[in-house]
Amino acid sequence: MEHSRTTHSRLILFTFLHGFIILCMSTPLESATLPSASANASGNETDRVVLLYLKKRITQEPLHEMSSWNDSIHFCSWVGVTCNPSTKRVLILDLSSYKLAGSLPPSIGNLTHLTGINLKNNSF
Ligand SMILES: *[C@@H]1O[C@H](CO)[C@@H](O)[C@H](O)[C@H]1NC(C)=O
Ligand SMILES: *[C@@H]1O[C@H](CO)[C@@H](O)[C@H](O)[C@H]1NC(C)=O
Ligand SMILES: *[C@@H]1O[C@H](CO)[C@@H](O)[C@H](O)[C@H]1NC(C)=O
Ligand SMILES: *[C@@H]1O[C@H](CO)[C@@H](O)[C@H](O)[C@H]1NC(C)=O
Repeated sequence: MEHSRTTHSRLILFTFLHGFIILCMSTPLESATLPSASANASGNETDRVVLLYLKKRITQEPLHEMSSWNDSIHFCSWVGVTCNPSTKRVLILDLSSYKLAGSLPPSIGNLTHLTGINLKNNSF
């Protein structure tokens, strides 16, 4: 019961994020401040930066799955990330079952092509 209630509140959060995405899309984004790390033109730099913010917010990851979230491989190959193969935009974020703890950055709303997110079995 407790579990389904938290799942429900995450659904609400996600609905909220969707609203946020729509808000973001209706305002110019060029003022966004991107950390100017090594830009790799394959895929969208915004997506990469948001994923790195997300990683930074994770305070516990006992299974060490997030070590694949590093710059030696493209973010579309990071564990739990599914991209559109042609646009290389993040479509699905599946972080279920990695027993992560942390908080979600508001900038997750900048993953404008995201269609699904699964945060089950974590404590965000
Ligand atoms: C990356 O995505 C952002 C919004 O999600 C968009 O404003 C920006 O133009 C995109 N950049 C490229 C290079 O497609
Ligand atoms: C980056 O991720 C890959 C794939 O999981 C791994 O083989 C590699 O050791 C990682 N590199 C660093 C610096 O953690
Ligand atoms: C960008 O990333 C791809 C895939 O990881 C890699 O093959 C390519 O060499 C990188 N390009 C630059 C300019 O770093
Ligand atoms: C993403 O969204 C946040 C607000 O949540 C905004 O401050 C930021 O500039 C946006 N852009 C990037 C690239 O994170």
